[in-house]
Amino acid sequence: MHPTPTIEQPDGRLGVLLPGLGAVATTVIAGVEAVRRGIAQPFGSLTQMNTIRLGRRTQGRAPLIRELVGLAPLDQLVFGAWDPIPDDAYESAAKAGVLDRASHLDPIRDFLASVKPMPAVFDSAYVKRIDGPNTKEGSDWMEMGMALREDIRAFRRDHDCARAVMIWCGSTEVFERPGPVHATVEAFEQGMRDSDPAIAPSMVYAWAAIREGVPYANGAPNLSADVPALEELARERFVPIAGKDFKTGQTLMKTILAPGLKARMLGVRGWFSTNILGNRDGEVLDDPESFRTKEESKLGVLDYILQPSMYPDLYGDLYHKVRINYYPPRGDDKEGWDNLDIFGWLGYPMQIKVDFLCRDSILAAPIVLDLALFLDLASRAGLSGIQEWLSFYFKSPHTPEGLYPEHDLFIQHKKLKNTLRWLAGEEQITHLGREYY
Ligand SMILES: NC(=O)c1ccc[n+]([C@@H]2O[C@H](COP(=O)([O-])OP(=O)(O)OC[C@H]3O[C@@H](n4cnc5c(N)ncnc54)[C@H](O)[C@@H]3O)[C@@H](O)[C@H]2O)c1
Repeated sequence: MHPTPTIEQPDGRLGVLLPGLGAVATTVIAGVEAVRRGIAQPFGSLTQMNTIRLGRRTQGRAPLIRELVGLAPLDQLVFGAWDPIPDDAYESAAKAGVLDRASHLDPIRDFLASVKPMPAVFDSAYVKRIDGPNTKEGSDWMEMGMALREDIRAFRRDHDCARAVMIWCGSTEVFERPGPVHATVEAFEQGMRDSDPAIAPSMVYAWAAIREGVPYANGAPNLSADVPALEELARERFVPIAGKDFKTGQTLMKTILAPGLKARMLGVRGWFSTNILGNRDGEVLDDPESFRTKEESKLGVLDYILQPSMYPDLYGDLYHKVRINYYPPRGDDKEGWDNLDIFGWLGYPMQIKVDFLCRDSILAAPIVLDLALFLDLASRAGLSGIQEWLSFYFKSPHTPEGLYPEHDLFIQHKKLKNTLRWLAGEEQITHLGREYY
């Protein structure tokens, strides 16, 4: 057992820095303010609503998570953002159309209008369907990375922040695999000076955050900090990192259902998933290269949960297909259909149909809040590098080379809660239960 770390108190303000001021970012910013003003509740957020059982079932000890481990209170959060589109958070939220203008945007209009995006490190080669004038000028990635570092310092100074965290809420970048330039910190920083095309803008943000000692999480499926060079830098600088791709609609359902079917040793022959969505994210994902990044992230899940190589008769022939269709009339109100062809005793076939009429950003916003508070906790506890205990929030959990990710939502949940118990110096809960008999 690793010794329980000492955790610094969450004193002072926490800067929450968001590259990408679109649907998800504005939904979390507006939501936090609505909760602060008492006009709404933070449903979906573990850091705000969840309790955690401690000790034996007979002891009745179940404090709120935020009280057990001491998380930054909402009134200490200050938001900053970057975006190539110059709209402030009010204009962007109004365009995204996620939150109701009369009940949730207009009452906090002044606050939202005060969150203005800083000029972005942006290149439309990596996000084809977006363009905007609010960008940084610079001769290479290193110069732009240094400008981001200056933004971070200036933000912390101007808003009197004791600490900061950064969460990528920007668009999904084109598909890429790690290459030689991502192998070491030295190669990466040389690549920045050479403006190597294998370095994507999200990596420049991740680099700037880590260099500034600011924890970084990636809400999109593109690599960003998930390369050896940035993992190494995070360890060296004692900075926690996590990713990738917020686990929201269809994949959330998949990682709830698949572990249940597997637990009962029910076979799966086919799983067809299709989505319609009409927000800006859907438009970006309409580009085949960005879709490929998302597709890889969505497809990996079932293999890891069902383990076809261990159960070839049950899952060896599984046909898994994922489609995303851009359909503007739906806006952020995505619809995700799943058809599962399963089989049971003696191979008799059955079907399950799921039709999830979800709201993408409504599911993503509490994840951003929880990640901000948990990454700050990790940092105050002296944890650094990949924070696998935050896998619960991601479609493609970031793990070190050679270690497969845990996708099963229930294993992820146990991992999260046991990490919190460990941080608080409490016993792990194994559910063995011999002590009651
Ligand atoms: N909404 C969800 O449920 C969900 C789930 C998983 C992942 N995600 C991912 O989260 C991200 C945000 O989703 P969204 O719905 O808010 O999308 P969005 O299109 O509304 O917002 C993304 C914003 O990022 C900006 N951007 C692009 N490149 C940038 C850069 N280099 N620097 C700064 N800003 C940049 C865009 O201009 C845009 O305003 C997407 O990558 C999406 O795939 C969303």
